[in-house]
Amino acid sequence: MIPVMRPWLGQEEAEAAAEAVASGWIAQGPRVREFEDAFAAAIGTPHAVAVSSCTTALHLALTAAGIGPGDEVIVPSLSFIATANAVRYVGAQPVFADVDLATQNLIPQTVEPHLTGRTRAVILVDQGGVPADLDAVRALCDLHQVTVIEDAACAVGSTYRARPAGAGAALAAFSFHPRKLLTTGEGGMVTTWDGSIAVRLRRLREHGMDISAADRHRSQQPVIEHYTEVGFNYRMTDIQAAIGLAQLRKLPEMVARRRALARRYQELLSCIPSLLTADDPPYGETNYQSFWMLLPEEPAVDRDNLLRLLADAGISARRGIVAAHLEPAYVDAKPSLPVTERLTSRSLILPLFHQMTDSQQKHVVSVVVAALANSTRAKSVP
Ligand SMILES: Cc1ncc(COP(=O)(O)O)c(C=O)c1O
Repeated sequence: MIPVMRPWLGQEEAEAAAEAVASGWIAQGPRVREFEDAFAAAIGTPHAVAVSSCTTALHLALTAAGIGPGDEVIVPSLSFIATANAVRYVGAQPVFADVDLATQNLIPQTVEPHLTGRTRAVILVDQGGVPADLDAVRALCDLHQVTVIEDAACAVGSTYRARPAGAGAALAAFSFHPRKLLTTGEGGMVTTWDGSIAVRLRRLREHGMDISAADRHRSQQPVIEHYTEVGFNYRMTDIQAAIGLAQLRKLPEMVARRRALARRYQELLSCIPSLLTADDPPYGETNYQSFWMLLPEEPAVDRDNLLRLLADAGISARRGIVAAHLEPAYVDAKPSLPVTERLTSRSLILPLFHQMTDSQQKHVVSVVVAALANSTRAKSVP
């Protein structure tokens, strides 16, 4: 089966993990700190705080931004469900806004109608790695004193206005799940420009303790810790961080390879008229974490049938991004989101992974082209 994604892991990661085990320090410790410093340097922010996932990163970012019960947070419905769920974790109300068709991201025109006196934050998602237009959304939000939190779960290695995605946000959250380019198995990171927020994030991820367990263990003297507020156990382990450090060194190569594979998909699929695919926005470059395509208006097969045809041909593709407002967990929300509904029902994500071969990619394209040939009069695959 051709997988939709396969992490690019090798001897470097295996050795790094083995070294962490041999050191005897496997919980959050020196390697987590080293990974945080290297990640902050790679993104270009002064602070990076490692956590157990992007879901927990979003939870802590919202908490640190002071969002709570009675507040509204504008989010795209078209996002992995964790984006909306994190708002619920802090007792606030997610308000679903529509997205731009080409980027699948929030834009000022879709955010503005949802601003109310209770709006405290917007979670701006870089969907599938395509950077959202942060400056444009922030210009609107600044007028209303609304915080913008960037959900850069998919966007490590993408760029926005020639800087790494996430660099411009007061708070950005990243994921290291194996569906993303850089993986630590599970894991996440919050980046921030604010030193006092970074201190609070470090405490919150570790039960609200005023001294980290690692520092306590290193101390020659007994240390009495205090619990300054109700926190969580959202720590990353040193084994994960060791893998993350090895992965971070490979990130530029991963991005270059994904962009080359995506360009080839775009060329091969250009024979299908009216097919919209993932692409760079005018102001940045995507890492192509997901290579999505939106089926034309009247395809010969519907999206779910195409997924089945691909599976029959040994290809594991995925439905497009979920729309949270259509899921049972958010059944009470009844927003009108036509672009989101079109994207979630008519798009799919094709396999794209570092080790993908030319013949695997051609096989995927030939199945798609054959399936769509009748109604779209696709020209023959080059
Ligand atoms: C946009 C977005 N936000 C948050 C998450 C949650 O990430 P994690 O699995 O690291 O909790 C994901 C995961 O796919 C995502 O795509």
